[in-house]
Amino acid sequence: MKKSISLLVSAMFLLAMAARSQETNRFFRGENLVTTGIYYYPEHWPESQWERDIKQIADMGFEFIHLAEFAWFKMEPEEGKFDFTWLDKVLGICKKHKLKLILCTPSATTPTWMRINYPETFIMDGHYIRAENGTRGLASVVNERFRGFVKAIVVEMAKQYGKDPDVIGWQIDNEPGAVPDYSPASQEAFRTWLKHKYKSIDALNTAWGAAFWSQWFNNFEQVIIPNTNLVGWWGNNPHALLDFKRYTADAQAEFLDFQAGILRSFVLPSQFITTNYTAVCTGSDAMRTNKLDFATYTAYPNGGTDNIGNLGFRLGNSRVVSFAADYYKSVRGGITGVMEMQPGPVNWGSYNPLLLPGTVRMWLYHSFAAGGKLACSYRFRQINYSSEQYHAGIMLTDGVTPSPGGEEYVQFMKEIEELRRQYNPGVNMPGKLAARSTAIVWNLENFWTIDRQKQTLQWDAWNYPVKFHGMAKSLGAPVDIVPETAGLSKYKVVIIPAYEMVDSALIKKWYSYAENGGHLIITCRTATKNRMGHFWEGGMAAPVSTLIGARIKATDMLSAHAQGDIVMNASHYKWNNWADLLVPENSTNVLATYNNQFYEGAAAVVTRRLGKGSVTYIGVDTEEGALEKDVLKSIYKEAGASVENYPDGIYVYWRDGFYTAVNYSSENYTVNIPATGKILIGEKTLKPAGVLVWSE
Ligand code: GAL
Repeated sequence: MKKSISLLVSAMFLLAMAARSQETNRFFRGENLVTTGIYYYPEHWPESQWERDIKQIADMGFEFIHLAEFAWFKMEPEEGKFDFTWLDKVLGICKKHKLKLILCTPSATTPTWMRINYPETFIMDGHYIRAENGTRGLASVVNERFRGFVKAIVVEMAKQYGKDPDVIGWQIDNEPGAVPDYSPASQEAFRTWLKHKYKSIDALNTAWGAAFWSQWFNNFEQVIIPNTNLVGWWGNNPHALLDFKRYTADAQAEFLDFQAGILRSFVLPSQFITTNYTAVCTGSDAMRTNKLDFATYTAYPNGGTDNIGNLGFRLGNSRVVSFAADYYKSVRGGITGVMEMQPGPVNWGSYNPLLLPGTVRMWLYHSFAAGGKLACSYRFRQINYSSEQYHAGIMLTDGVTPSPGGEEYVQFMKEIEELRRQYNPGVNMPGKLAARSTAIVWNLENFWTIDRQKQTLQWDAWNYPVKFHGMAKSLGAPVDIVPETAGLSKYKVVIIPAYEMVDSALIKKWYSYAENGGHLIITCRTATKNRMGHFWEGGMAAPVSTLIGARIKATDMLSAHAQGDIVMNASHYKWNNWADLLVPENSTNVLATYNNQFYEGAAAVVTRRLGKGSVTYIGVDTEEGALEKDVLKSIYKEAGASVENYPDGIYVYWRDGFYTAVNYSSENYTVNIPATGKILIGEKTLKPAGVLVWSE
């Protein structure tokens, strides 16, 4: 009986998932592949230029215009007095030129009247200084009065445009950032959040380890937001700070859902509701939202850093789009797109070089190749005044001459037209790729805790999972970055990088994944803490010992100049970041051992069979990742999958029947295309910033 109920429940779940994904795909037609648009700010330009600009946007090949995310002052110039006449005019011109629209709720930038009349609607920083208007994201998302104003403007916008079939979707807010807020409203909301979570003050005292340094609370009213600005680094309580991060991310997500809920009750079912998270997003947790149709990301790969080879500073960081695209598609609905793509040099990099010709187009192809359903750019015209004066646009400051990035957009859009003609519905992912399908299980909470207590400054908490993603991509695997709740059975290989906080149910899930034939790779810093962030009494990473078939006896780390040596299959590897000394069980195989230091001979990487699958534990973090990559290679082999060996900066994807390769390296690279391959765009030999699209 129990079994049939659980079968029924799983069947209902699968049906619900199928319905959900069909529902989400109602927003984008398969044959369109990707739809391209542009941010336009009519409020920045004389009305006499609107038609000229919008016509130009249409003539260049853009399909939609993105409007109004910073225009609260113009839509509600005085409290409660709404004015959409200007926006109606803009929409009218867009319609005339057959452009679709994405409209945005303006909650990221509040108007001056709100600061003057309701200063309490702003956040307070860690020195209890109140923020002001004039930039983005500084209103307190938990402040009830602010919420009231947001509700009013969202309702007005939704009433005005929610039934317009040319509006394809809505963006809520702008780059929601989950900014720490120490205002009275936030203190109160934090206490409410804690009461809900812990129920009793004793439970909170236990979770926070409040017996340490006299932090004990007698009741919830005594609790304040932990504030490292005032007590210093040593005074931090990692458990309290973790809860503050969680609360802040929950409040941000709930604020987005609040707006999404209002919009959904007014707007056409065909209009999507999304937001634009930053590609590298360390505060907001997209996985916490429930009401968005999908999530998009903003990508600025070139902020003036070295990157790969001597041209890298012009090509940008290849990991920005690659990680974001595989992460945001897992948020909801299985789809994503790039809402802002850097159109040229920006104004905020450590320096802002000219991009290598072709770079913007390559980034666009990268996000398309990784599955992007929409591609949009900040911004159409470079502005002649204010803080983003030096930021490139699609047009130069004269408003009529396309920038180099603008020309590359035009080329991309023309080429996509061509690919649309080649589109063949219903093709399945080629078997050799499916055989390598990989998931990386990730949870921002682990980034928060590890980043707080790194133990070695050489630990790069953000880039650690990103590094594994890069390795899997260079071996040619299709990768999803998934939350711990995701089903794992469809993946041949699952990587769990530095997943610090676990519970027994999660370990059990990983256990059964491997037992049923999956190949699980767990790395150092996994399962060292419970969900409160406490160590286990049973020893370091105790709950995972049985699963990996080894015990972690101790952990070492070296100075930046020292070199640890490791041997695996007679090859030597260097390390100095992190080293777990492993004591394997008899049935566990040792893949790599430390080859110097006083513990020479101790195990560094171990593997074991488990049921129909395997579990491998990588106890070491090496700077360049060569050891980890070789371990990964051997696991794909064990899983029966062939692998590629793309050099650093070469990415190859498959989507909708199209293979796409992009080159972020400073060298030419010749792609190995089978005799049956048909080149659709580009050449076999990819130059730096080159793009190749082919079908097989
Ligand atoms: C983004 C932001 C845009 C614009 C852009 C400049 O982060 O969403 O509004 O400021 O940066 O690069």
